[in-house]
Amino acid sequence: MNRRVHITEVVLRDANQSLIATRMPRSDFEDILETMDQAGYYSLEVWGGATFDSCLRYLDEDPWERLRFIRSKVKNTKLQMLLRGQNILGYRHYSDDTVRAFVRKSVENGIDIIRIFDALNDPHNMATAIDECLKAGGHAQGTICYTISPIHTFENYVALGKTLEKMGCNSICIKDMAGIMSPQICYDLVKALKKDLRIPVYVHSHTTTGLAQMTLLKAIEAGADGVDTAISIFSGGTSHPSTESLVYTLNEMNIDSGVDLKVCKKINDHFKPVQERFLKEGGLNPSVLTTKIDALNYQIPGGMLSNLISQLTAVDKLDKLDEVLAETPNVRKDMGYPPLVTPMSQMVGSQAVTNVLTGARYKLISKEVKAYCRGEYGHSPAPISEELMKLALGDEKPYEGRYDDMIEPEIPGAKEYLGDLAESEEDVLSYVAFPQQAEAFLKERKLKKALKVSYTITEAK
Ligand code: CO
Repeated sequence: MNRRVHITEVVLRDANQSLIATRMPRSDFEDILETMDQAGYYSLEVWGGATFDSCLRYLDEDPWERLRFIRSKVKNTKLQMLLRGQNILGYRHYSDDTVRAFVRKSVENGIDIIRIFDALNDPHNMATAIDECLKAGGHAQGTICYTISPIHTFENYVALGKTLEKMGCNSICIKDMAGIMSPQICYDLVKALKKDLRIPVYVHSHTTTGLAQMTLLKAIEAGADGVDTAISIFSGGTSHPSTESLVYTLNEMNIDSGVDLKVCKKINDHFKPVQERFLKEGGLNPSVLTTKIDALNYQIPGGMLSNLISQLTAVDKLDKLDEVLAETPNVRKDMGYPPLVTPMSQMVGSQAVTNVLTGARYKLISKEVKAYCRGEYGHSPAPISEELMKLALGDEKPYEGRYDDMIEPEIPGAKEYLGDLAESEEDVLSYVAFPQQAEAFLKERKLKKALKVSYTITEAK
């Protein structure tokens, strides 16, 4: 039998997030879900990341309802989500009761596979989510965030992979969020993981720097069990390699992806006018579609680079860019080499800008960096420099144990606060994750229902 490689289609989550800031409403894909279910994908990534926030904030959609709707149409293909470990779908650490309830409800509402990652690659920050996912009957995929630094060695990545396997993960994902993993590095890393792990290894990358098409192929050559791709009209640039091109390539190599190119054509035809509309209305900026190799030169993600440029432009100091780019790796080193992914990329970048603009290193330290030094984000990959610790905390001592153990349960208070605004545990979780957006959404929903009732009564007269 031919070798089988799994394809995860990411158009509804990561491609949607990477190209059009997660602004795709349900009406843009509801009619194609049943066809997508017939394509032969191993899984569809449909939820998590920014989808939740965007549904509440911009799309006037209940994110839970969106998930249940997708599940009702996709009966055979596994549904997958991305979860930021102890941060669930938000930007701070939540209490264990929130993480557990959120994970359980995600599975109950239709998710099969949860890809769980942590910005610092700290297994403690993934432990609760992994444990609850397994208890709820879900597939827990542990994640290795790929980054480049002197301490992020193959040995360390393999050790993390082994730890995640021991924690019970059903598979591992190498997540290259910046698209900076070279084909050769990926080949060697997959080989090393496959040699030492029993569970399947998946690879996720972005085409930002133009490497990912080659990187995924090398991953498969090295024995990867699956990769992530996006239907062609939503592929490329800051998104992902195109599904059809990879499936075509694998067909030629007698590798079975299970994906039917004829069905892919129907799916692509469906999304073409969607893409054209976003392009025409400005929701898709054509510049994100071009290959940008800056991230390889500076070894920082493209999104972080554009943030630095806009921060400096805002204060009319773009001439300091070279100094900031020189300072960024120093700050990162002082902070113990965190991977440059949200929220660490913002923390490191802003601190580098502050250091350069004030002309004195760490004269001003952001409250986020102070919280990081206290241990509120978990363990730094390498120790934080003594100089920074002293300047950030003074005589204050960092937390010794797990910070999350000190966060009080959040659900009971939220339930009480919301009262009849919340009609389900899902509503309460939406509020805990995104208080402002969810409260506005729930109030509006209540108002709409009240209006609908009075309208019906008037009509009846
Ligand atoms: Co991604």
